[in-house]
Amino acid sequence: MRLGFVGTGALSSAIVTGLKSLPGETTPVVVSPRNEAIAAELAQRFPDVRIAADNQAVLDQCDTVMLTVRPQIAREVLQELRFRPDHHVVSLIATISREEIAGLVAPATHVGKALPMPMIARLQGATIICPPDPIMAAFFGRLGGVIEVEDQSEFDALSVVTATYASYFKYLDTIHAWVRSQGVSGDKARDYITSIFKALANAPDTAPDEDFMHLAQDYVTRGGINEQVLRELTERGTFEAFAESLERVHRRIVGK
Ligand SMILES: NC(=O)c1ccc[n+]([C@@H]2O[C@H](COP(=O)([O-])OP(=O)(O)OC[C@H]3O[C@@H](n4cnc5c(N)ncnc54)[C@H](OP(=O)(O)O)[C@@H]3O)[C@@H](O)[C@H]2O)c1
Repeated sequence: MRLGFVGTGALSSAIVTGLKSLPGETTPVVVSPRNEAIAAELAQRFPDVRIAADNQAVLDQCDTVMLTVRPQIAREVLQELRFRPDHHVVSLIATISREEIAGLVAPATHVGKALPMPMIARLQGATIICPPDPIMAAFFGRLGGVIEVEDQSEFDALSVVTATYASYFKYLDTIHAWVRSQGVSGDKARDYITSIFKALANAPDTAPDEDFMHLAQDYVTRGGINEQVLRELTERGTFEAFAESLERVHRRIVGK
């Protein structure tokens, strides 16, 4: 594989960093000259990474191209480029459909979408790909895992998960702030919360056949303190409001 990136920003940088952290990894990578500082940093860190003169030069020097520009400029950028029929195009542009991208990159016909997350730099967090594609499954499989989906609707629904990270940290921050308000040092509270939530994050792997509410039941003893918090938050409509938020994000993602 000769891998190219059109748009050298946060996500391309994370993918290249993850890729090049793999032992013995020598895939040649060519990146577009924008963003200049990020491209220069990648080329300086990794001997296999080169900076192309422009976006067309990226295409001319690669067989697999990841589209990593922002959605606002994507159409304009892609319209100016000449793709080859043998290009394998993977669009990481979150809000433009595979069909529209396929129209923009013709005559290339091998076109898919992928949704990696920045933690791919540390080989963590699975990438969603659509449609299933053995080459991309192998590629992203080594960089934190892959979830292959058949159609855009499945892809869109799973994408909603990525809207919940900030709320997750707000949840942890609420616990942290409360513990601190009791006079516990910030560092101690942070260490304890981090350690416990890491352990909880491992629970689905240790009990792969249990759904999330079964895992919750492991901690809910009748009349106990976990039962109390779960009940109080449920009664106040916290989870209902959360589910409604997911619904609204989904509508935004599918453009309704
Ligand atoms: N970051 C995420 O967590 C994430 C997750 C999933 C999907 N995505 C998708 O991935 C894509 C990239 O996201 P990102 O976070 O990496 O954005 P980003 O950091 O803004 O990177 C995009 C890069 O494209 C460069 N660029 C601007 N105009 C260009 C042009 N004409 N030709 C080539 N490159 C150009 C920008 O350079 P300048 O800085 O010089 O303008 C910028 O560095 C987006 O479509 C986004 O929807 C991102």
